[in-house]
Amino acid sequence: MNMVVYPGSFDPVTLGHMDIIKRSAGIFDRVVVCVLNNAAKKTPLFSMDERVNMLKDVVKKYDNVYVEQYSGLLVDFAKENDIRIIVRGLRELTDFDSELQMAQGNHMVSPDIETLFMATDPKLSFISSSMVREFASYGRSVRGFVPDEILPLIESKVKNNQ
Ligand code: PNS
Repeated sequence: MNMVVYPGSFDPVTLGHMDIIKRSAGIFDRVVVCVLNNAAKKTPLFSMDERVNMLKDVVKKYDNVYVEQYSGLLVDFAKENDIRIIVRGLRELTDFDSELQMAQGNHMVSPDIETLFMATDPKLSFISSSMVREFASYGRSVRGFVPDEILPLIESKVKNNQ
């Protein structure tokens, strides 16, 4: 079985992420979306459980997409689950440096695991979770940035945080 992991912090999941999930689900037998911690992003807006629940809600329409969470290294998650391919979306050139570094670092510690990059749909490439968090925190609607199903959750989270 052709199984891949699509990792990220998903704080929160965006339509850009959804594009990569949908396209990966069309290519591979099974896609495991794995929510991990990004050491560079200190204080997530959503807890790990909230991010996982949002993802589960928005991927339930795909019968070959699963959502997991992991608190260790991505390559260890992949190994534990017999996954040899990591999928990452590339939005623009500014993603490239850090993505290449991460892929090469992961390859160094686990040469049997490959990272494949998928170019984001250009209509969605400006979207980032951090932009979503910023607009939402100033009370702006993030419709068109994230799946409609999670809009109420984002709005209530931001209200409760004020
Ligand atoms: O959505 P993000 O924040 O760009 O995803 C980055 C993520 C979570 C995939 C990355 O930080 C990660 O793999 N974290 C788990 C810890 C790990 O394996 N670190 C080594 C690679 S940098």
